[in-house]
Amino acid sequence: MEMAEQVSGAERMPLQPVERELERIFSSLGHGMYVVDSERRIRLWNKAAESILGWKEEDALGNDCREFIRHEDKEGLRLCDDHCPLRSSIDGSRTVFAGTVWGYTSGGGKVPLNVSCAPLLDAEGHVAGAVEVFADITREMEVDRLKSEIVSIMAHELRTPLTSMLGYLELVMEGEAGSLTDEQREFLSIVKSNIARLTGLVNDFLDLDKLESGKMDMHWEELDLNELARDALKAHFPMAEDKGLDLAHELEPLSSVFGDRQLVSQVLHNLISNAIKYTNEGKIEVKTSVDDGKVAVEVKDTGVGIPVEEQDKIGDKFFRASTAALTPSHGSGLGLSITMGIIEKHCGDLEIQSEPGVGSTFRVLLPLDRECVLIKAEKEAEGGI
Ligand SMILES: Nc1ncnc2c1ncn2[C@@H]1O[C@H](COP(=O)(O)OP(=O)(O)OP(=O)(O)O)[C@@H](O)[C@H]1O
Ligand SMILES: [Mg+2]
Repeated sequence: MEMAEQVSGAERMPLQPVERELERIFSSLGHGMYVVDSERRIRLWNKAAESILGWKEEDALGNDCREFIRHEDKEGLRLCDDHCPLRSSIDGSRTVFAGTVWGYTSGGGKVPLNVSCAPLLDAEGHVAGAVEVFADITREMEVDRLKSEIVSIMAHELRTPLTSMLGYLELVMEGEAGSLTDEQREFLSIVKSNIARLTGLVNDFLDLDKLESGKMDMHWEELDLNELARDALKAHFPMAEDKGLDLAHELEPLSSVFGDRQLVSQVLHNLISNAIKYTNEGKIEVKTSVDDGKVAVEVKDTGVGIPVEEQDKIGDKFFRASTAALTPSHGSGLGLSITMGIIEKHCGDLEIQSEPGVGSTFRVLLPLDRECVLIKAEKEAEGGI
């Protein structure tokens, strides 16, 4: 195989104490893992990485991971140059959840991987490299595909009767079928709010189905993220006020990005509404800024947070963190799956930092460089993805 030949004969570099300790832990783990230095040269490669991707430790060590490991996003765009999660982790000194990524094996096949990267600090606290952890999710993908198929059929079947129920209910509530007592009106308004909840759920299912199957109708245009952030903030002030939360913002002047207005708004709405839902006291801050050729929108809260051991499930359909129970919130665990799907369509990243009892920060990064987005828009126009 071409790639394996390119990388043979790499020398093993002496390990730092932190790496030796990691190596010991690595060898017994079920997840694939490798460590790179700040130049992205591979310094550790565990057994599980070998069995998932096929390359042996001696093939991997010392190689630049960009030449050695080929990761692509779901649409087949190479991540190693401008969208390398390891690079973001090293540069930003933060954990990056890259989500589902295609990894190439030594035999030339493709394996779906769930990837996250974290920076590695040396004894002085400086970033010395990063670790990538990945799991082979072939089975989960198949189960997910079947689940999506069932959900999509159900959602389509439910939409029509729900619309009809709401229509007739509104007629009754308007008195078209005779006058109502206050008690009847109150009961019917409960029915109406539950129909609205069900409709929201069905719409979420349909959105997910469209995002996953590539059938989402995208309307690409120049977007002013500050304008979208202001609209989203405005829509959420009453919700924050009801909970006694401060909703603050700090918006830097930004260049426009290329995206779908309705979908990017949906991302901001989801993140701000989550921040409010999962915060019992304190404040929510929405900030926009420019960061390394990307526009960043950050939603930071002082809420209940998400336990570290549950964080790799963020973005899974129906995932609800155990800490959600500390709030009076309702939810179906679909909002972040949709959010991540939309961000991916825009060649962006979602970075998450969360600590139970302290709060969470969700940071959306959208590229200022149009190339990747334009390729996606073009592929869609051709009916490709
Ligand atoms: N800002 C946050 N702080 C703490 N936990 C959060 C935050 N955002 C999301 N979560 C956790 O992640 C889970 C998934 O979020 P997601 O938005 O996907 O679903 P949801 O809010 O439960 O339901 P919905 O589909 O209505 O959005 C939440 O249930 C919650 O446990
Ligand atoms: Mg939500």
